Amino acid sequence: MRPVPTFLMTDPTHYEVSYAINPWMKPELWSAAAAERHGQAVRCWSALRKALEQAGAKVEVVPGQTGLPDMLFPANAAVVLDGRALLARFLHPERQGEEPHFQAHFEQLRDQGRLREVALLPEGIFHEGAGDCIWDPLRRHFWVGWGQRSSYESAAALEAHFGFPVVPLELVSPRYYHLDVCFYPLPGGEVVFHPGALSDASVAEIRRRVPADLRIEATREEADLLCLNAVNLGRDIIMAKGTARLKGELEARGYRCTELDLDPFILSGGAAYCMTLRLDRSSVHAAPDAAPPVHSLSEA
Ligand code: ARG
Repeated sequence: MRPVPTFLMTDPTHYEVSYAINPWMKPELWSAAAAERHGQAVRCWSALRKALEQAGAKVEVVPGQTGLPDMLFPANAAVVLDGRALLARFLHPERQGEEPHFQAHFEQLRDQGRLREVALLPEGIFHEGAGDCIWDPLRRHFWVGWGQRSSYESAAALEAHFGFPVVPLELVSPRYYHLDVCFYPLPGGEVVFHPGALSDASVAEIRRRVPADLRIEATREEADLLCLNAVNLGRDIIMAKGTARLKGELEARGYRCTELDLDPFILSGGAAYCMTLRLDRSSVHAAPDAAPPVHSLSEA
């Protein structure tokens, strides 16, 4: 039987925008209409959950905590591959309080036999989980963002821990503070990214590894819709509303895009991908959900 893809999401009850640790966060806009925005956030969160379920996934919910509004973004809590969770270490004190809560949840999953291992990063290294460590299912390596939240040294630590190659990419703008807001790989080998978010050397590295016909370069306008923060499940791509151009390009390649209103989360600098954490991510090449349009890789 095909395993059901499983995502973790955080209960949105305690979600708000009450501080600013990235240029998207506007606590004054939130507090000007807090009750309405919270209601809208709960509706948008439920729509994302439903879209994941309609794409064939199972969603598990971890409780949030008062005063830790960014727990809403569990992608930042850990990197999970093959049942092994490596817990994040947050750069900003505003988010460090999330660490023990997520740790307790992952340890509970381990005790239930749902994860094999829960591990900590070496001392002195910051790393913000799957937001800065993205598995490429076709190339079978991680793309790791560094330079804003995660330390450069995290790349070597992730490689040593998981035993898979890591390609570090330097993020050069506070606006694109995690790799997942400006970059994602698809199971057909395509890589969608916004070059303006990355150093010249990192853009050159992507161009060296990904043949031109598999590179989908997004404009600043597209990146600023946070639609690159997308969840991919086989041929499905679930994302914040993007542009007709980007959607058309993805659909022409055989993907099916579901665009959602995620505005209350964009007000915190997050969207679809970082509102989720895939718990059953597997390094096995032919993952059951990595089916559709496979192109051959002429380099890499
Ligand atoms: N307000 C959160 C922060 O700045 C948003 C995190 C979104 N996560 C992500 N992986 N893009 O940390």
